[in-house]
This record gives sequence, C-alpha cells and structure tokens, in this order.
Amino acid sequence: MNDLLSRRDVMQRMASVALVCSFGAVKTTRRDTTSAAMRAQAAAPFEPFRADLPIPPELVPTSRRRGRDTFELAIRKGTAEILPGFETPVYGYDGLYPGPTIRARKGRETVVRQSNQLGFDVNVHLHGGTVPAKHDGHPMDLIKPGDAFTYRYPNHQDAATLWYHDHAHGHTARSIHYGMAAFYLLEDEREEELDLPRGEYDIPLMLQDRAFAEDGSFKYEQNIDVGFLGDTIVVNGAVVPRMRVKRRRYRLRFLNASNAREYGLKLARGSMTQIATDGGLLPRAVKREQVDVAPAERIDVVVDFSQYRAGDEIVLANTLGEGSTAAVMRFDVERGGGAEEFRVPKRLRRLGPIPPPAVDRGFDLSLGTGASGPQWRIDGRSFDMERVDLRTRLGTSERWTFTNPSNRLHPMHLHGFHFRVLEPKGVRGWKDTIAVRPGETVTVQPWFVPYAGRFVFHCHALEHGDFGMMLQMEVER
Ligand code: C2O
Ligand code: CU
Ligand code: CU
Repeated sequence: MNDLLSRRDVMQRMASVALVCSFGAVKTTRRDTTSAAMRAQAAAPFEPFRADLPIPPELVPTSRRRGRDTFELAIRKGTAEILPGFETPVYGYDGLYPGPTIRARKGRETVVRQSNQLGFDVNVHLHGGTVPAKHDGHPMDLIKPGDAFTYRYPNHQDAATLWYHDHAHGHTARSIHYGMAAFYLLEDEREEELDLPRGEYDIPLMLQDRAFAEDGSFKYEQNIDVGFLGDTIVVNGAVVPRMRVKRRRYRLRFLNASNAREYGLKLARGSMTQIATDGGLLPRAVKREQVDVAPAERIDVVVDFSQYRAGDEIVLANTLGEGSTAAVMRFDVERGGGAEEFRVPKRLRRLGPIPPPAVDRGFDLSLGTGASGPQWRIDGRSFDMERVDLRTRLGTSERWTFTNPSNRLHPMHLHGFHFRVLEPKGVRGWKDTIAVRPGETVTVQPWFVPYAGRFVFHCHALEHGDFGMMLQMEVER
C-alpha cells in the first residue's frame, strides 16, 4: 500500500516536472492542443512569467508612540489588476488584493482599527498570533456593516511570518477568496542578529489559486468536499509572475493562502534552505529539495541565487500541480549584485523546554451528513458556538492525535497557541497548522500559554471549516 502510494507519487512528480520543462512550448502552441487541461488554460487569459512579481505595500501607522504602533484599515470593495488589462472586483483591506503588509516588532503593541465598509459581517483573525481571546477574531465575534473594532496584538511572541484574514463563520472561504488576506511580519532583535537576508532581499510570497470568468472577475464555485481548486496560480496578486533577482541570498516567505490547494515547491534546479515555519525560526537551518506547503502554512527559505549564472531563468515548480498549476513563478537571474552581506547560520534558535503532556486526546476527521446537508466533523462533532468541546488549563500541554480516514487533506489549525509536531518525526519548530493527509495520523503537542479564554481549532481547507470542521476549547486559569 505504502509502496504503491509512494510510487504513484513519484510518477506524478515526474509528470509535472516534464510539464514544467515544456511550459514555454505549451504556451505558444496551446491553441492547437486538444487536452481538457490545455483548453482550460486557453480560456484563462494569461501568459506565465509576463508580470513582474508585485510586493504588497506596507501599511503606514497612523501613530507610533510609547511602545505602540496604531494602524487603521477599511475593509471595502476595490479592484485589482490580476490579469493584465482586466479589473477584478475584490473585497480587501483598504480595497487591496492582497492586503497591505503590517510590520510588527516584538515587545511593541500593534493596534489595528478595522472598519467594515461592506454590506455583510466580517472579522479579522491574526493567524499564528498569540493574542487575548477578545482580539483573536473568533468566528462568532463579528464586525457588523458600518461598525469598527480595534484589535490589540501584544507581540510577546518571537519573530514569525504571520498573516491576517477574514474569519466570519460560514463565509470565510468566500471572504478570503475575494481578497481578505494579508501578511503580518513580526520581527525581533534576536532574528536580526543572525544576519539573515532582509530589506529588499526579504520577500513575502502569498500563494493562491483562482479561476476567472471572461470579464476577469473571480469565478468561485463552492465545493464542500474538495474545497475550491482554481486553474490559475496567483502570487502576491499576479498570475505566475517572474521576479528579477541578483546573484545573492534572498529570504522567501511562502504563505499558502489558498482555500484548499497544497503546493510542492521545487526549484527547477538547485536547492533551498528552510529557516522558519509558522511559529518562527527553526532550531537549525535545513537544506531542502522541495517544500510542501498546505493551506495556511508558512515556510521561510533562503535561496542563494549565486548558485546560478546571470541570464538563468529558474522556474519554481509546483510538483503537486499539473498543466496550468504546475508552475508557481520564475526567478530571472541578473548580472552583478555586489558583495553578499547576509548569511544563514546553522543554529538559528533554541526552542526552549515545554512541559510534558498532561492529557492525551484523539480526533478523527471525517465527512458526515447534517440536517442541512454534508458536514465535516472532528471527532464526530460539527461546530456549535454554544458548545465547548474541550477544557484545559493554562500553562499545561497535551498530546493531540489526528487521524484522517477521509480521502481529503485536512490542514488542522489551532488558534491562540502553538504546538510541536511529535509524529511524523522531522517536522521541526513551533507550528500552528499541520497537514493531515488522507490515511495519515499526526500527533502534535500544543502548549497552552500565555492567554486563557475561548479559542477554536479547525480545518483550514476553508470550505471544510465553514461546513462544520471546527471545535471550541476553553483554556481555564
Ligand atoms: Cu487562519 Cu482560524 O485561521
Ligand atoms: Cu488562526
Ligand atoms: Cu478539512
């Protein structure tokens, strides 16, 4: 069984690599081709590697004083030029897709006033943030049309690639799909002392898949079973873009902000070094041929482009995709670049001790039928805001085992707290989201610090979360 699976896996990967290599040829001859995948691609008005990679703008604080940065955002309609020559209607933070990046500093509070200028309820969740429950963006804490809410993020945690996104229960999938997602980059002194690439060499990359109608608008079709899968890869709001790079080290912060698609990221040749994941730096840098990124996960890597020659065009492939989803972007290596100022030390961070687990819990992940149709379940239960599914004590840790008898991927995510991964071995660092693939069993060890209160944990395949795959926990003092 295992053997069969892995062999099929390898075959798939080989097939995708072949597709990537012929990407240029496919593009020019696609009108003559008859395969269904190619027809779908022809219907989408885009050319890969034409658009330059956009970098989302950084939000400017309205005030900066006494250990606190204050920001204001309006959640409203806007348009984005995702396909050249088309204006795609979006819902976004300040009307932007993707939203503006918030830069935060450990030890300084970030205050964000979010006003809802849309005609339906929204809220804002800081994904990966350890924040008091009131400011977490619980799916039932909503901002009504015309109202505003001021979120306070203490930033006591270590540097990490976080993101903020809509979390209004039942329509998170749509809201994020239509644009409500952005980076929140938390920095700290310790990370700076490592001399990792920064400034223009530190690049956030938001990966999403979309489908488009003839007029350039998003074509969202709800699929509760698989979740939404689009035929077009969009990075920072541009279709399969290219990025000009110098022959130097870059930090690439991958965020999978797709509804349900997982990516297997692999450079056409050469390797990358993983330095961080959801909760920040890994204990040690790890060389990788490929990194898999499930929905909501973050993987930070350093790529040393001096391993290539000027003029090289290096495709970043998605080995889990095919046809028009087999390539994510391309790096075009320029000449020159100057002296390297940055490095990747072997040791990055000490993770520190975690108390031994006080309780063992098991959760199976399955599809059932509720009163109003299909329903995703955790341990036989579907989300009920009136019910607290588990209680635990502040400061303790537990062992949670997820089993996945279903045939879908479930990226399981915990609000408010981070966990270590016990099984499978080899996943290092603090995480908040873990892929549980079909047939897999995954064991994590969450540590319930520092805030007590009510938090959710759920599947981050967005349609699964909207259709019940979410439970509530109460962390008591
Ligand atoms: Cu991205 Cu409930 O989270
Ligand atoms: Cu979250
Ligand atoms: Cu799921």
